Amino acid sequence: MALILGLESSCDETAAALITSDRDVLSHKLAGQEAAHAPYGGVVPEIAARAHVEILGPLIEAAFAESGKTLADVDAIAATAGPGLIGGVMVGLVTAKALALASAKPLVAVNHLEGHALSPRLADASLEFPYLLLLVSGGHCQLLLVEGVGRYRRLATTIDDAAGEAFDKTAKLLGLGFPGGPAVERAAAKGDPQSVKLPRPLLGSREPHFSFAGLKSAVLRARDAGTHSAQDIAASFQQAVVDCLTDRTRGALEQAAEATALVVAGGVAANQAVRGNLEALAAEAGLRFVAPPLWLCTDNAAMIGWAGAERYAAGLTDPLDIAARARWPL
Ligand code: KG4
Ligand code: ZN
Repeated sequence: MALILGLESSCDETAAALITSDRDVLSHKLAGQEAAHAPYGGVVPEIAARAHVEILGPLIEAAFAESGKTLADVDAIAATAGPGLIGGVMVGLVTAKALALASAKPLVAVNHLEGHALSPRLADASLEFPYLLLLVSGGHCQLLLVEGVGRYRRLATTIDDAAGEAFDKTAKLLGLGFPGGPAVERAAAKGDPQSVKLPRPLLGSREPHFSFAGLKSAVLRARDAGTHSAQDIAASFQQAVVDCLTDRTRGALEQAAEATALVVAGGVAANQAVRGNLEALAAEAGLRFVAPPLWLCTDNAAMIGWAGAERYAAGLTDPLDIAARARWPL
């Protein structure tokens, strides 16, 4: 059994976790920066990087204290090395390098998307490769056939906005606050999803990809028309996103006959309407459905530690001069 320290700092969550290769999350610590970014209605990279510098050290200490372990007990140190806001990524990666150097333990540089992609295997020990994954976060919206650790076949991506980005922009347009996804979901619960006619970009088309920019423009028009409440627009928007995600995933299932399960991960996977509709789609296709618990959907360090554990077990460690990457496709 291996013990892994995982660090995450690619966006606006600072996180540290200690996790075993037996899926035991000994501790996971997370500090969000919502209050610091809320006045700007979105994440400000410079503010995020400075906040990571301040909080990451104390979080690592707290994670060790809670787990009862020390750096000497750790087998490998995993950190997000990209993609993300480069200043923040560098804070986590440089910290991991320093700890690796000081303790003579191996470094595992984790692709943040791989963290999301493997997180369902942390949540469910029986989930085997290959599985069809809908990865929906603030920066990405992809359908991937996950064939193994480090083996991802991309079946679809977004041609404009990511799904989470659409939620965040809609929240901003409707004045619902920041972060946008949970705010839209709360407002949608009080609205009628049939009330506002919104487009479903690419629905039913042979093209496998996603598109959300047109939907965002339609939300703006609906708001400016002034005929519907923010709750009704939010509910109609959420329904349109869910319809698009479900339709595109249904199409991808035809390209992924070997998939043993339908899996959803990433921040938008925390949305109950998204989860419910994909679960129904999996049932329709006769497939298992796996979605991580909500805390594991949004950014955290346990998933980075887990991806680190999977890579470490496969002998995939990295040199200390590995660079942080703002862009890094899976
Ligand atoms: O995975 P994540 O925490 O960070 C990235 O890697 O991007 O995803 C964050 C995204 C944000 O766009 C956020 O608005 C969205 O996930 N999100 C949600 C919900 N919770 C978070 N979107 C819809 N419904 C939610 N409940
Ligand atoms: Zn993420």
